[in-house]
Amino acid sequence: MNDVLPRRAHLITLEGGEGAGKSTALATVRDCLQAAGCTLVVSREPGGTPLAEQLRAMVLHSSRQDDADERLHPSAELLMVFAARAQHVAEVINPALQRGDWVLCDRFTDSSFAYQGGGRGLPVDWIADLERRVVGFVPGLTLWLDVPVALGRSRVQGRGGVPDAIEREHDAFFERVHAGFAARVAADPQRFVRIDASVPLEQMVAEVTRAVNAYLAQVRR
Ligand SMILES: Nc1ncnc2c1ncn2[C@@H]1O[C@H](COP(=O)(O)OP(=O)(O)OP(=O)(O)O)[C@@H](O)[C@H]1O
Ligand SMILES: [Mg+2]
Repeated sequence: MNDVLPRRAHLITLEGGEGAGKSTALATVRDCLQAAGCTLVVSREPGGTPLAEQLRAMVLHSSRQDDADERLHPSAELLMVFAARAQHVAEVINPALQRGDWVLCDRFTDSSFAYQGGGRGLPVDWIADLERRVVGFVPGLTLWLDVPVALGRSRVQGRGGVPDAIEREHDAFFERVHAGFAARVAADPQRFVRIDASVPLEQMVAEVTRAVNAYLAQVRR
């Protein structure tokens, strides 16, 4: 699916469903890169610039129960996450990569394929077109933190806080998101490393460390 888009070797992304352990794994990846002497920028999506963070808030806090008169339409959600991504790529990711820095991002375009494509059922070719026009490249390495939906949900609930508009979705939605990620991995197996995120934390951290160090060895060969 991504065979025409160039890879950016210095861009590493973390993907997965709710509570998979992306933010936890991100700290491990950051430590590996820093230990290897890489200069890096750490960011997240949707977000990563002031404007993109405003779009994130609009997407995640839409249709709250106390303000439920207008639901965000799926295609509006897709365009808003890509509007945020356009800003993020232009303002943060491209300048960092052009400087020769590394960029580590908590979620990226694969999440749009999984959530807006798989979850919301929007056409994959539309998302692929936006990816080509707005982003124009794929990461060099993407870690897919793979966790069963119910386990991810229980971790998020254990963390407390008010669920956002996505977190309030039903399990069927998250099963489609999971299938969306699995389809992305199947379509581009060389870019992805699947991390079993259902194992105990130390084991997951060890797997992530191994994957990142293997990738660094390959890129710097
Ligand atoms: N392998 C693991 N075993 C047990 N607990 C874990 C594991 N990975 C993460 N956790 C815990 O689960 C919770 C969710 O993890 P984390 O915040 O990293 O997930 P996330 O994918 O970033 O979630 P979100 O989608 O909400 O951003 C945290 O409390 C974290 O400490
Ligand atoms: Mg997180």
